[in-house]
Amino acid sequence: MNPTVETTLTQTVLERFAGCPDARFKTIMNSLVTHLHAFVRDVRLTDDEWMQAIQYLTAVGKKCTDTRQEFILHSDLLGVSSLVLEINHPPHAASLESAVLGPFYLEDAPARPLGADLTDGMPGEPAFYSGCVTDTAGRPIAGATLDIWSADGAGFYDVQLPGPLVKRGRGKIMTDADGRYWFRSVKPADYPVPTDGPGGVMLQKLGRTPDRPGHLHLIVAAPGYTAVVTQIFVADSKFLDNDAVFGVKKSLAAKFERHAPGRAPNGEQMNVPYCTVQFDMRLLAAA
Ligand code: BEZ
Ligand code: FE
Repeated sequence: MNPTVETTLTQTVLERFAGCPDARFKTIMNSLVTHLHAFVRDVRLTDDEWMQAIQYLTAVGKKCTDTRQEFILHSDLLGVSSLVLEINHPPHAASLESAVLGPFYLEDAPARPLGADLTDGMPGEPAFYSGCVTDTAGRPIAGATLDIWSADGAGFYDVQLPGPLVKRGRGKIMTDADGRYWFRSVKPADYPVPTDGPGGVMLQKLGRTPDRPGHLHLIVAAPGYTAVVTQIFVADSKFLDNDAVFGVKKSLAAKFERHAPGRAPNGEQMNVPYCTVQFDMRLLAAA
């Protein structure tokens, strides 16, 4: 039987890449076309479905703005962001694990003194975080930077609030001579990823929930060590095993211990219940 275009087209397309001078780009495009064609054959994509896909991707692009990245959201929702992270920052038994950066990071968080209150008045149950940053042998790392950001107790980041941006829940703090850190923030609430765009439609069609377990984001860095983008998760969140963006690692779940009103770890008299969180982090020496 003569070969059909369906069986030969993939090879025909790949042959057109023969003159590509960029070896890495060629490898990526070869693989992309091979898998894309295999997918189209596998599901026997119809004309209508192909057009729907084009319209869907157009809608994803149109939803993007300076502060909204619907493509990254799709990468997160399909587990691609977490896969890329795992490939490029594979877990090392003795060091802090990584978790997705997410769309709410701002590069210019203010430097804050150790012990600072990062809430800037944002609502939520007060939480006092503390721990130690060490190397993989447990030796303290002085001067490690923790670049922190989180949602408030209702699950909203400052950048999601209406009106001009007033930053809150963010700050860079540095460990002391013994590698210790401590600061005040809130217990972050579980929250849904943005669902007012195509990503929300996709989740609904798939019968998936948009929720993420409460978490505090941080980037931990120190000279001579590999920086880690990660999150501390609220261990008792009901979404810990069903994170919409597949970011949870068991080692990143921390107990938020609840206390009755009284004297907080920083000596402050608290009139409301508050939490304490103890979370140590180990960094790998840079290669
Ligand atoms: C976040 O944790 O901030 C996040 C991550 C992925 C998608 C949406 C939000
Ligand atoms: Fe987040």
